[in-house]
Amino acid sequence: MYNITYYHKLIINKEITIAQNERKSIHGQWSSKVLFIFAATGSAVGLGNIWKFPWMAAENGGGAFVIVYLVSVALIALPIMIAEILIGRRGKQNPVNSLRYLSKEASQVKVYEVDHDLNRTKQTKYQHHNQEDYTNWELIGWMGVISGIIILSFYSVIAGWTISYIFKSFSGLFNQVTIDGATSLFKKFTSDAERQLAWHTIFMFMTCYIVSKGVRGGLEKAIKFLIPGLFMILLILTGYVTTLSGFTEGLRYLFLPDLNKITASVVWSAMGMAFFSLSIGMGALMIYGSYLSNKFSIFEVTSIVAFADTFVAVLAGIIIFPIVFTYHLDPTTAGPGLIFQTLPIAFGSMPGGETFGTLFFILLFFAAITSAISLIEPAVTLLIENFRHTRAEASLKIGFVTWLVGIGTIFSFNYWQDVTILGMNFFNLLDALTSKVLLPLGGFSMAIFVGYLVKRRTSVAELKMSQSMYTIWRVLIRYIAPVAVMVIFTNGFM
Ligand code: TRP
Repeated sequence: MYNITYYHKLIINKEITIAQNERKSIHGQWSSKVLFIFAATGSAVGLGNIWKFPWMAAENGGGAFVIVYLVSVALIALPIMIAEILIGRRGKQNPVNSLRYLSKEASQVKVYEVDHDLNRTKQTKYQHHNQEDYTNWELIGWMGVISGIIILSFYSVIAGWTISYIFKSFSGLFNQVTIDGATSLFKKFTSDAERQLAWHTIFMFMTCYIVSKGVRGGLEKAIKFLIPGLFMILLILTGYVTTLSGFTEGLRYLFLPDLNKITASVVWSAMGMAFFSLSIGMGALMIYGSYLSNKFSIFEVTSIVAFADTFVAVLAGIIIFPIVFTYHLDPTTAGPGLIFQTLPIAFGSMPGGETFGTLFFILLFFAAITSAISLIEPAVTLLIENFRHTRAEASLKIGFVTWLVGIGTIFSFNYWQDVTILGMNFFNLLDALTSKVLLPLGGFSMAIFVGYLVKRRTSVAELKMSQSMYTIWRVLIRYIAPVAVMVIFTNGFM
């Protein structure tokens, strides 16, 4: 029988750990920890922080939304982010295969044999409980691939807007622009389907080009100057808005929550925003984690990325809302056009605005493309690793499908403006479907998977946290995060 001493167990566990450390990623590794942090921050920081966060906050009662958002980041998104990177780093392949690997590993039972001559036990082999146990978990990976394509389809359209705004700013269109001027500039642009299609096509083409070259090639270089550049220009803009008459009112709106406004729907939106902003729930960080060397602490890199992401979102809010209140915009009705209607006014009236405006939209475009890459990377690696595609073929195929779906989003700002399903136009529908349903569902499943299925010793070995931090994480991932997601989801639904 399984007569085994504690000492032998130790040896065996050690051997397992060594074997795991020697497993190499089949698709390469980041060259350093800093690069992983850059890449993950590049994925997290994007249109979500600067375009979506202010508009969602405006629509959902300002401070009420912000406070729920921050709490969701800390208690739900952060622990799930750790879990997602853990799956990726241990699995070291595309999300589908990584999940399969981990569930196989988790269902292994050790079989020991007693060697009577030497009077010691030795582990002979691993056996699986049940073949079916681990196939279902792959669905999280498949769902993520689909969420990524849907998100990118509209993300690319909005990224197209930012490219167009680079040129608008550069050609001086924002000089001394009034609130009505900025609004009609935006309306004119979004009613022009062909123009948006052109930018959408260009953006998708660039994304696919970079992805077809492999992540380590283009991405590592681009991100190095992007993040510092974005921080710089946001700080300059922050300096500018302190001079506006609506500055304190804007801050009050953003940071003084009216607790009566915290409704089930606000909470649901804020939680969805946390998933979207941190790029979790669909496998993007899982794939980036799979490039991460085993030497680095997942907890450390995760905290840095989450902090940077939250910082940028809050900064964007600090910039947008003073403009909103100075120029008496109605925050509740602005919608996805919010930054495109407010920022031009700021650039139009500040010294050096033309340069800063151009620079700002260039950086926003880069922030968008580094996020876009992470949105299709899971789908692309899946085609490469499981369906024998070359990187170029895979990028082209996924890119084409995404591009096609994106046309629906373009139309929802003009031809299909009045076509609604469940009270939402096509764009709002895709946005809600991903942020409020698919990502939370993906995150919930990852929490259950890592919290209950993956062996404790596996997560201990991967995370290498202090005892107390590990315990806190484990409570969050097993109880707090999944329960919160389910409660918020069902309440929001009803
Ligand atoms: N987080 C990015 C942003 O805020 C968007 C993004 C990139 C994303 N990868 C993702 C969202 C994966 C959800 C899932 O703009």
